[in-house]
Amino acid sequence: MAVGTVLVTGGTGYIGSFTSLALLENGYEVVIVDNLYNSSKVVLDRIELICGKRPAFYEVDVTDEAGLDEVFAKHPEIDSVIHFAALKAVGESGEIPLEYYNVNVGGGIALLRSMKRANVPNIVFSSSATVYGDATRVPNMIPIPEECPIGPTNTYGRTKVMIETVITDHVEAERNRCKKAGQPYERWNGALLRYFNPCGAHPSGIMGEDPQGVPYNLLPLLGKVATGDRKNLLVFGDDYASKDGTAIRDYIHVLDLANGHLAALDYLQEHKPGVRAWNLGSGRGSTVFEMIKAFSKVVGHDLPYTVVERRQGDVLDLTARPARANEELKWRTKLTLENACADLWRWVENNPQGYRQDPPAEFVEALKAKKT
Ligand SMILES: NC(=O)c1ccc[n+]([C@@H]2O[C@H](COP(=O)([O-])OP(=O)(O)OC[C@H]3O[C@@H](n4cnc5c(N)ncnc54)[C@H](O)[C@@H]3O)[C@@H](O)[C@H]2O)c1
Repeated sequence: MAVGTVLVTGGTGYIGSFTSLALLENGYEVVIVDNLYNSSKVVLDRIELICGKRPAFYEVDVTDEAGLDEVFAKHPEIDSVIHFAALKAVGESGEIPLEYYNVNVGGGIALLRSMKRANVPNIVFSSSATVYGDATRVPNMIPIPEECPIGPTNTYGRTKVMIETVITDHVEAERNRCKKAGQPYERWNGALLRYFNPCGAHPSGIMGEDPQGVPYNLLPLLGKVATGDRKNLLVFGDDYASKDGTAIRDYIHVLDLANGHLAALDYLQEHKPGVRAWNLGSGRGSTVFEMIKAFSKVVGHDLPYTVVERRQGDVLDLTARPARANEELKWRTKLTLENACADLWRWVENNPQGYRQDPPAEFVEALKAKKT
């Protein structure tokens, strides 16, 4: 019997697809809604190849409340939602803020309204370390704990803070309403998962990040440089106050991150905390130059880069203090940066067309052999 049915918005995207896979591997049923703005339906085949199960899929925009209502009506067994669907490019968010507020904030509100109508009480939300902004502005906040004051420095970060606030108010209001009506109120809960820098791919080599258009995260860009798709990597600033002058980030393997969602879901169901935030990071900070070195090592040769001006809205150091997630969720990262680099390279080297090509036959055979 399924341990629960989870609606995953943005479930064909990078982190959503890995979380859907982890849910299926752990006995959950998965219903995905995604408008395929930045993803491909082919990922459903890859999930099935890896775990033998296929999520239900609906091509629905998260701002379309009536569309969401229909999905909930078709799946009355849904008891929780993991909400990934969003636009996520920091730079772009400052150029087309209305799109970002519409999808990220409007979409989040549409989802919560639809969940309320369908009486679905639990939400796990993809937030981001970006909500903290420049944590070095406050003493003793690196590595960053959840108590660090919020202070986003860009539009994208502000959309995340807004939805965190909406979720918090909504859960509190539903709890109050139930209390007054003498109904069980503890069932309304929310997890705000503040991710640090997700990276890596599936070790099988058939599933990974495949954004439509130009990627803007460091590791996928390095992948493009390694395959020759891009001439060199742009390093945004080498005059930060770090050991080599480049910005520090906390890179976390996407398989670890996916498991963090399952741990949060379990925690909500078992402890019914109301709304709680958790940092999902490794606690280890790496500079851009260290990442270039680590990835070059896996690829087998040095990758070219050029240092350019700092990028607006970037900050010196986003390294997590993951103690709360370690203790409360009993979750910690198990995979290393080196694992992430090796897995990413296996994916990129063997699938230069991402999901627009067939997966390498020998990788599929290896998966089948593992199952028998
Ligand atoms: N990747 C990161 O570095 C990172 C870091 C922190 C937080 N996050 C958050 O995690 C979540 C997932 O990120 P990701 O890296 O997997 O991104 P992604 O772009 O791969 O996935 C997002 C998915 O949402 C879908 N989507 C976009 N707009 C939609 C809409 N209007 N209706 C329905 N679906 C829509 C896209 O098609 C895509 O499949 C996002 O909320 C993002 O803000 C990502």
